Formats: sequence, C-alpha cells, structure tokens
Amino acid sequence: MSKTQTTCAVYSCNTSKAEAEKKAASALSHAELKAEIRRLAKEKNAVIMAHYYVNGEVQDIADFIGDSLALAQQAAKTDADIIVLCGVHFMGETAAILCPDKKVLVPDPAATCSLAESCPADEFAAFVAAHPGHTVVSYVNTTAATKAVTDVVVTSSNARQIVESLPEDAPIIFGPDQNLGAYINSLTGRNMILWNGACHVHARFSVEKILALKAEHPDAKILVHPECKGPVVKLADKVGSTAALLKFAIADEAKEFIVATESGILHEMQKSAPEKTFIPAPPDDSTCACNECEYMKMVTLEKLYRCLRDEQPIVTVPADIAAKAIKPIERMLSISKQLGL
Ligand code: 13P
Ligand code: SF4
Repeated sequence: MSKTQTTCAVYSCNTSKAEAEKKAASALSHAELKAEIRRLAKEKNAVIMAHYYVNGEVQDIADFIGDSLALAQQAAKTDADIIVLCGVHFMGETAAILCPDKKVLVPDPAATCSLAESCPADEFAAFVAAHPGHTVVSYVNTTAATKAVTDVVVTSSNARQIVESLPEDAPIIFGPDQNLGAYINSLTGRNMILWNGACHVHARFSVEKILALKAEHPDAKILVHPECKGPVVKLADKVGSTAALLKFAIADEAKEFIVATESGILHEMQKSAPEKTFIPAPPDDSTCACNECEYMKMVTLEKLYRCLRDEQPIVTVPADIAAKAIKPIERMLSISKQLGL
C-alpha cells in the first residue's frame, strides 16, 4: 500500500468486538443486509459508488456505477457527506483527494491494485528525474504518492484525447501500464517512454483461446480493454474502457460478444442487454479464474454494510501528497470537461 493511510480503528483496536460485529453482520440475511445498507446510506447522507468490476450484488445496491473516470467525476460533484467507494484503494484515494471535506470510506482497505502497486512512487520519481523535460502522464491506477509526481492523470476513457491535447513535440513519460501506453502510442503516433507495469488480470488473456472461442461463435464481436497485451488488442472489434465497451455492446447490432476485460462488467452488460450473449474471454491458465480481479472481488455486501454502519475504514491522504496529487487529477477532469468526456 502507498504511504496513504486507511484508518481501521474498530478493527484493529478491539479484535473480539470486531469479531462479534462481523458475526452480527453475517447473521443478517441478504435481504436484511441490503435493506440496512440502503437505510444507513439515507440516514447518513452517504452515496455508494461502485466500479463495474465489483461483485454484481454490490453494483446492484450502489447509487452510481461507472468506470474509473465516471467515479472520479461523480466524487468531484457529489453533495453527500460520506462517499463509500466500492472498488480498489486508489479509487478511494482519488475521491479523498477531490473531496477533502467529506468522509471517504472503502469496504476493504486491503483491496489494492496490482497495476498501481507495480509503480512505487519513489522508483517512479527516480524514473521521472532521469528524464528531465518530459511531461508525466499517469494512469489513474496509481497510488496518490505516484500521482504527486505526475503532470496529468488519465483513465482508459480519456487517455488518447489527453495525450493528443499535449503539444505534438512534447516528450512524454507514460506510466504505469505499458499495454495502455503502447496502445496510445499506436493511436497517436507519439513515442511516449513507458513504465513497464501491467495489470495481472488484463495481461493474462490468451490470443489462442479467444480465437478458439471466436471459431465457436463466428458472429461474436470481440471487446477488449486497452490494458490487455498488444496481440489481444489486435483481435478487437472494439477497444475501450469498461464504460465504452458497455456502451458499444448495448448499441451494436451483434447478438454475441466475447469480452476481454475483468468479468465483473458482464453483470451490467447482461442487465442492460438481456437479449444478448456475453462470453468472458478465457485467461491463459484455464485452471484459475484469472479474468477476475481478486481485489475488486474483496468488496462484499457484508463489508459494505459494516463500513457504512461503523464509518470505517476511512481513506486519508497525507496533506503534502494530496496537495500535489490534486493538480494532475483536476487537470484531467478539466480537459475531460472541455472535450465533453
Ligand atoms: P476503467 O475503469 O477505466 O475501464 O479501468 C479499468 C480498471 O482496471 C480499473 O481498475
Ligand atoms: Fe488493478 Fe487490474 Fe484489478 Fe483493475 S483489474 S483494479 S487494473 S488489478
């Protein structure tokens, strides 16, 4: 985890009490849990935001579901007193940086992100220092401390447009996702220097297995997230963020889709287009559920309930880091607004 803190007073200070409360939460039926979550959210003026990759039942109870960009945009404009960010830790940090006057909660502070962790802030700062004069573009999947050494943040929804908004001759460092960076280089003709990070979920989709699926479903369109490796991206009928893939799947005339991104998105795809068939792309290892992000799946209804009830764990970002990290995040939001994204 980054230098950012997540305070967990209830859990760390009194283990037996925490155990009892955990049992109390698990004694509630699913229906009771959901009713309690909605009651607590109303009583506390809390907004529940969820990423498309979390468990379907958590998505269903959220006030808002979206991709990383939409979650940041919603956090920036909410008038709720409490934001519960059902996603991974960097998403909670981004909300906390954007909303210093609000309480930002995450159901499980251990839900981190392999991509964000692949770019430790001190190593990234040294990389930046070794390339003086470069504009530093960082994917939102970074810790707050890494954002603090960044000029502009991007998400998979706006990376192309934000890179294109920089002067054509600007030398650029892009981190941490080398697959997204290479894809943006190919679209824009830029030659950004790439940090060699990757998401362990997206990097594991298999070209051979996707082609075998396509042979079984010749009319299926292939949807690919740009965090996937280049050869997988090349197979795509549509490359885009989770929100862009969802939009395409709803609007397109095809009836079947092979989906190469974290499988949580299939929940909303199936809900939005029940008459269509969505097939999760297989990972290279058929013995594991590697197209699931185990961090996103750590967010459960029980944890969401306890987090709202106890108003813990709170995400806090040290003031010196937040003061630096907010600039590239606000720059991203401002460019996205100008571009209508
Ligand atoms: P988007 O939300 O931008 O599609 O990114 C996917 C992701 O990996 C989030 O962790
Ligand atoms: Fe991070 Fe990959 Fe999980 Fe997204 S899917 S949160 S990039 S580990």
